[in-house]
Amino acid sequence: MHDDIERVLFSEAQILSGIDRVAAEVTEAYTGRGFTVVSVLKGSCVFASDLIRRIPIPLELAFVSASSYGDGTESGPVQLSFFPTGQEIEGRNLLLVDDILDTGRTLSQLFAELLKRGAAEVRSCVFLDKPTRRAVDFQADFRCFEVEDLFVVGYGLDYAGRYRNLPFVGALHRAAFARD
Ligand code: XMP
Repeated sequence: MHDDIERVLFSEAQILSGIDRVAAEVTEAYTGRGFTVVSVLKGSCVFASDLIRRIPIPLELAFVSASSYGDGTESGPVQLSFFPTGQEIEGRNLLLVDDILDTGRTLSQLFAELLKRGAAEVRSCVFLDKPTRRAVDFQADFRCFEVEDLFVVGYGLDYAGRYRNLPFVGALHRAAFARD
C-alpha cells in the first residue's frame, strides 16, 4: 500500500501538531457552551477521533453520512444518507467535522439541512482545505491544513475505498489509479 504513494504531503507528526493547534482553537470557542461534534462519515472518522481526544471540555458526538465521489476522483452530486436524530440536532450547537473541503457542496448542503432541522448553530472544522476548487461560497470556521489541488489519500481519505488506514496524507502514483 505504501508503495502506491508518490509523495507524502503531511507526516503523522505534522498531522498531530496541526490537530493540537485546531483542538485548542475549538476548545477556546466552545468553553462554557455545550456542543456536539458531528463527524461526516466515512472520511472524517480518523480526524474526528484524534480531534475530540484533544478537546478537554464536555462535548457530545454524532454522525452524518454524505458521499460525492463514489469510486473515482471526480466530485459528483452529494448524497446525504444518514442523519443524527431530531433530539441530537434540535436546539444544539453543532460542529460539523469533515476530512476535506473541496467544492464546498457537501458542507454547505449539510449546513442548510441541519439548520432546517432545528440546530441552534452550525460551524465547521475540516482537516484539509482545497480553496482553489471551491464551487460554492463556503469557508470553514476551523481548519488544520490547506492543500493544493491534488487528489490525496490517507488519514481517513480514500481512493475506491482504500488507503483510509494510512497514518499520513499522500498523493497516489498515477499507476495506482490506472490499475482500477
Ligand atoms: P466537496 O466537493 O463536497 O467534497 O467539498 C467533500 C468530499 O469530497 C471528498 N474528497 C476527497 N476525497 N481525496 C479524497 O479521498 C481527495 O483529494 C478529495 N477531495 C474531495 C471527501 O469525501 C470530502 O468529504
